[in-house]
Amino acid sequence: MKGIILAGGLGTRLSPLTKITNKHLLPLYDKPMIFYPIQTLVNAGIEDILIVTGGNNAGDFLRLLGNGKEFGLKGLQYAYQECEGGIAEALSLAEHFAEGERIIVMLGDNIIEGAIAGAVKDFRRQKGGAKILLKEVDNPQDYGVAEIKGNRVVHIVEKPKDPVSNYAVIGIYMYDNTVFDIVRTLKPSGRGELEITDVNNVYIERGRMTYDILKGWWADAGASIDRLLKVNMLVYESGANKTDLVQKRKNPASKHTPARR
Ligand code: G1P
Repeated sequence: MKGIILAGGLGTRLSPLTKITNKHLLPLYDKPMIFYPIQTLVNAGIEDILIVTGGNNAGDFLRLLGNGKEFGLKGLQYAYQECEGGIAEALSLAEHFAEGERIIVMLGDNIIEGAIAGAVKDFRRQKGGAKILLKEVDNPQDYGVAEIKGNRVVHIVEKPKDPVSNYAVIGIYMYDNTVFDIVRTLKPSGRGELEITDVNNVYIERGRMTYDILKGWWADAGASIDRLLKVNMLVYESGANKTDLVQKRKNPASKHTPARR
């Protein structure tokens, strides 16, 4: 199973911070935002990742992340999104990389406290189809919202005015290799984008969608400046950063020698 992190977009909701850099390179406590989704996928056993980005700062991802060895990745690749066509359009750039394997797609600004290894393991056992993760929120109208009947998601509505539930669809999606054929059938939405919610509704209509409820906090750090600040605090307070391999690298000098002033 391969991982895809979507890290494009103009980040206008975080302007002026994003005037000279990509949203996913902004700091979250002590590391650039993009480190967190990479670590989430690595912790779930994903060894090959594709980063889809765009705009003027694409080269900075390469300078920052190189070949991904620091994260213990077997391979880290990059794809360039030429225009803002939405999440599903960005995903279509990953078809060649996926090579027919199952994929897990993560939005680069979705930060989680816990782990998704259990859900990924369940999806590996599942006979194809797709799997999404849901989280109860106070502001469902800001997200894709799932209607649940029994143990099934029966429909997802993108940013509904009158949400039917409090279950937001978080930006972590698992798909079999039919996803790219589905993306080819999509038409742009009212906001002119190919919507990931439309992809998910196709799987639901085909009876091929499962879901899990995510444990621990979840936040989309790119939603607003206030949210970015809040996620910084959440990461700082929860110690989510401590699970990170990069963080674990010892700095002997700091332990035994007094700090230089
Ligand atoms: C996107 C999806 C939405 C999902 C959200 C999670 O929204 O369209 O369904 O709930 O990510 O962060 P966007 O960030 O494009 O507004």
